[in-house]
Amino acid sequence: MLGDNPYFQAGFGIMGLGVALTFLRQGAMLAATTLRRQMLVSLEMNNKDPAYDYFLTWMAAQSARTHAGAAPWTGLFRTSAPWMRSHQLGVQTLQEQRKNGSASVMFKLVAAPGTHYLRYGKVWMQIKRDRETKAPNLMTGMPWETITITTLSRDRGIFTHLLTEARDLAMRGQEGKLVINIPWGIEWKPFGQPRRKRPLRSVVLEEGVAEKIEADVKAFLQRRQWYADRGIPYRRGYLLHGPPGSGKSSFIQALAGALNYDICVLNLSERGLADDKLIHLLSNTPERSFVLIEDVDAAFNKRVQTSADGYQSSVTFSGFLNALDGVASGEERIIFMTTNHPERLDPALIRPGRVDLSVLINDASPKQVRRLFERFYGRDETSEVPVVVGAQEGSETDGWERIPDVQLRELAREMEEIAQEEESQGRRISMAALQGLFIRSNARDAVRDVRTLFVPRQPASE
Ligand SMILES: Nc1ncnc2c1ncn2[C@@H]1O[C@H](COP(=O)(O)OP(=O)(O)OP(=O)(O)O)[C@@H](O)[C@H]1O
Ligand SMILES: [Mg+2]
Repeated sequence: MLGDNPYFQAGFGIMGLGVALTFLRQGAMLAATTLRRQMLVSLEMNNKDPAYDYFLTWMAAQSARTHAGAAPWTGLFRTSAPWMRSHQLGVQTLQEQRKNGSASVMFKLVAAPGTHYLRYGKVWMQIKRDRETKAPNLMTGMPWETITITTLSRDRGIFTHLLTEARDLAMRGQEGKLVINIPWGIEWKPFGQPRRKRPLRSVVLEEGVAEKIEADVKAFLQRRQWYADRGIPYRRGYLLHGPPGSGKSSFIQALAGALNYDICVLNLSERGLADDKLIHLLSNTPERSFVLIEDVDAAFNKRVQTSADGYQSSVTFSGFLNALDGVASGEERIIFMTTNHPERLDPALIRPGRVDLSVLINDASPKQVRRLFERFYGRDETSEVPVVVGAQEGSETDGWERIPDVQLRELAREMEEIAQEEESQGRRISMAALQGLFIRSNARDAVRDVRTLFVPRQPASE
């Protein structure tokens, strides 16, 4: 009887339809999930990993390449950058230092947080950049970020390829450059853009001094196995001491550049740096880098004083010694320390194992005066001569009138004689003062004026 009821039949039909739809929808969802699980693969990286920055730069380079209309081919894969059409862009500012000292600033558009699509070779991928704003990294105050790249799973091999390409690109940008790292919480981070290297021979030291340090570092670098075999920590410490402006910092930078090393600058009296952080920093230096500690004497003299706002540095002397060669300190390390007052240093600091080679970098000797003069005004044979500030790039005269070689040699000899005379009367000149003079005057005026820059000073004893 019920079956004859048309209302009932209709109701039954609608119910059936509902059930069928529900099944369908769930089926579709299940299928989508399965599909995603089976067919898609994603790669996640966060901003703690170096690959993160490589990848962003790489992505930016993709856009630059398509925009400049340069050959879109590099190697095997062809990339287009449709993500540029995306509505979420961020900016990365690049500063380029030219040879003549002028700088230009370029902006690169990078993918901002959000979702972007990119085609790499024949493969499409989705790039999601997420920023965790709620819980910033406590150490650095930077927000955590992740990038997730999703693509079809059959193309997963492409990840390695892509990351390799990104890394190579990042490395190429740094080739021939010197990277300066500074502490960032308990980690090291590059400070500014990589710098142009300073030619080693542009730092003119007393004869044999530069060669001695360079040879020592090179010898050390070749004895890794020797140290390992004897169970000695692979560490070496250098102390360069001498009056201000004699080239200590410049030499260390130039040496790092020559050996393809980076520099990690550590300031012991920095705010918030404590013993535990120091140990961590010193045992986690990036590969191939020198640790540079300037003015080591100052760090612990200041410690007893309290600055205006009542802040006291909390690196203790014993903490520092421990970080240098205590049990918890790192296995591999090259440290350079500089000071103007070696006599103020605690003997515990300069004992072998902490400081293995201590070298005096002194005021200009007459020979050095002459060599620096020749480097500045001589013909640019080695193309190592520092470029005169204000000169036009590529101009034949470097901004100065060209003096015939014979006269120049005569002037150089005169320069050395003046320096000798002044030295015999107990007066010295710093290399920095000399450089200042050479920058602002031509060769003749430099010889005429140089006497005024000598000051009475006892030569520092070794
Ligand atoms: N031996 C040198 N050869 C060439 N240039 C030098 C030399 N010494 C100093 N200069 C120039 O003088 C300037 C200061 O040099 P630098 O900072 O290396 O001196 P420093 O010894 O580290 O001084 P401080 O003890 O005050 O830190 C630099 O611009 C550098 O180019
Ligand atoms: Mg210095």
